[in-house]
Amino acid sequence: MKQKVTVVGAGNVGATAAQRLAEKELADVVLIDIVEGVPQGKSLDLAQAAPIEMHDSHLAGANDYEASTGSDIVIITAGIPRKPGMSRDDLLATNRAIMKNVVGQVARYSPDAILIIVSNPLDAMCHVAMEESGFPKNRVIGMAGVLDSARFRAFIAAELSVSVENVQAMVLGGHGDTMVPLPRFSTVAGIPVTEWMTPERIEALVARTRSGGAEIVGLLKTGSAYYAPASAAVEMAESILKDKKKILPCAAYLEGEYGLSGLFVGVPVKLGQNGIEQIISLRLTPEEQKALEKSAAAVRELVEAMKKMT
Ligand code: LAC
Repeated sequence: MKQKVTVVGAGNVGATAAQRLAEKELADVVLIDIVEGVPQGKSLDLAQAAPIEMHDSHLAGANDYEASTGSDIVIITAGIPRKPGMSRDDLLATNRAIMKNVVGQVARYSPDAILIIVSNPLDAMCHVAMEESGFPKNRVIGMAGVLDSARFRAFIAAELSVSVENVQAMVLGGHGDTMVPLPRFSTVAGIPVTEWMTPERIEALVARTRSGGAEIVGLLKTGSAYYAPASAAVEMAESILKDKKKILPCAAYLEGEYGLSGLFVGVPVKLGQNGIEQIISLRLTPEEQKALEKSAAAVRELVEAMKKMT
């Protein structure tokens, strides 16, 4: 039987995710948005591309959540994106309110779904989603590390003029300026990137990765990145739908791992049919651990700020 994925938010990230899910024939897709006609129009357009793209995924659009009933996965992209000069954290209050409303309805119609959160500020929005849904921690997963490490991988491949297929990378921490790209755990054909480049070049690519989202916001001016964020969310969904058990960096709720507790932070996890099936603990150097703690502190600040909101 075909599985069902609902994508909430029919903006650029949501619509691109719907397209990739359908074209890869991973599931039937329901696109939901508050704007009347937009999810219906975009899903109809995608459905009319199906004979050319040669897939039989069913696509539907709706403004109410009844259409999402019984989803296996719900990808939540709803919320406002950044404008130039804004940080992801500037979106906190607005997107928290949107997330609360969305997740309440999602949980009502799909009580067994796995949630993939994409809205920013990412790690804080995962907290809202877990609280509002009451779902166990294995079923609330944040998309950030896959995107951040894909950016790092793309930059490494371009720098060395090698295939992106040869490049693996690991980025931990919150999805913000303090994220922690780990060159020691980033490889080209299995060989650590530290063997391929000078520390200065690595540092330059790390810095570009950290501001990878802002670089695109600066270029687009009217919104943020969406092709790579959509690809990242769909890679996570695929690993869950096919029970592939891929190890991917994702925002996960930590309870003691990496010395952190009660917080969503990006770490390597195993994604299978039960969502997060394992959190992988890496042995970090004192510098790496310190950087991760700094990044976690930035997430904690947002979580504390949300506690003061009504
Ligand atoms: C980015 C946004 C989506 O990193 O957070 O591009």
